[in-house]
Amino acid sequence: MNYSFTVTLQKWYINHKRPLPWRDTSNPYLIWLSEIILQQTRVSQGLPYYERFVMHFPTITDLANASEDEILRLWQGLGYYSRGRNMLKCAKLVVSNYNGAFPTEIKEVKKLPGIGDYTASAILSFAFNQVHPVLDGNVYRVLSRYYGIDTPINTPLAFKTFKRIAGDIIDVKNPAQHNQAIMEFGALQCTPKNPDCMSCVFNETCVAAREDKVQHLPVKLKARAKRNRHFNYIVFLSNNQTLIKKRMAKDIWQGLFEFPLLETAQPLENDELAKTVESEYGLALSQVQKVDSIKHLLTHQTIYADFWLVTSPHFDFNRNSDTFEVDLQALGTDYAIPVLISKFLESPLMKV
Ligand code: ADE
Repeated sequence: MNYSFTVTLQKWYINHKRPLPWRDTSNPYLIWLSEIILQQTRVSQGLPYYERFVMHFPTITDLANASEDEILRLWQGLGYYSRGRNMLKCAKLVVSNYNGAFPTEIKEVKKLPGIGDYTASAILSFAFNQVHPVLDGNVYRVLSRYYGIDTPINTPLAFKTFKRIAGDIIDVKNPAQHNQAIMEFGALQCTPKNPDCMSCVFNETCVAAREDKVQHLPVKLKARAKRNRHFNYIVFLSNNQTLIKKRMAKDIWQGLFEFPLLETAQPLENDELAKTVESEYGLALSQVQKVDSIKHLLTHQTIYADFWLVTSPHFDFNRNSDTFEVDLQALGTDYAIPVLISKFLESPLMKV
């Protein structure tokens, strides 16, 4: 253990930590819930979702009894929806295989859906004070700067290197507080951009601060290029009813609902779209109108979405059996939909 680092870190933590609800509990269910929600999500964004889930599902058994649609409705807007789906699978497994009590062996915990090394270490240290160092983006940043390590952090080698160091410095007497402290330090003090090193308790001991390398650490390998996709949503409208469909493919937004979609390699012109709708739906269109275009950014994809309004007096045309009618208003309130679709529903055009 690096005694001076750990003692200084925990002193800092006690003086600076944010009061967060999952820090006042050792209930593994609540800790697991918070960690799944906070994966790839900022605390300020995740907090209301955490509160909503706890209110709806006070115990893991309540959660395990929920439907996937219900979970995805509550998850709506958080992104990375496989987290929500895995959360339900995990709850069901804990209830059926472990009688509703979270397993306490790290090997067992890591086998659960949606739980990797970080989440397993977080649950077992926070809930049971077990000595498992956590490695999240914050911890990589703090350690790479403090020790001046330039191994790219998004590589398997970095995982091994940093896991060993994190294991060397963890406070074996209080791993729960140590892990919270190092993550909080990364979130509040040792920030990705422009950290205030002058006010830092490690100003004298941090290698990056002493050698003026803070802006260059941690090193990260370049992310793969973003993929562009062109979505054409067909918004059928008849007496305020529309058609929707559940996304089933292993792709973004699996399990969410959307308008019938044509994905194309390039944006479509009116007549091309009309022709496709005619052959797909057997519907001769007198009029199809592009009513909105929305560019929607995801981590690895850019979606260019065009929304095509098709007003028709009835829905009596060939229609894939998996599309069904809903009230346009109900779409926004009763179904889990991608943020892109919410944006469209909120556009002034749809309000009239
Ligand atoms: N981000 C992920 N887990 C967290 C936690 N337990 N506290 C604060 N931020 C977090």
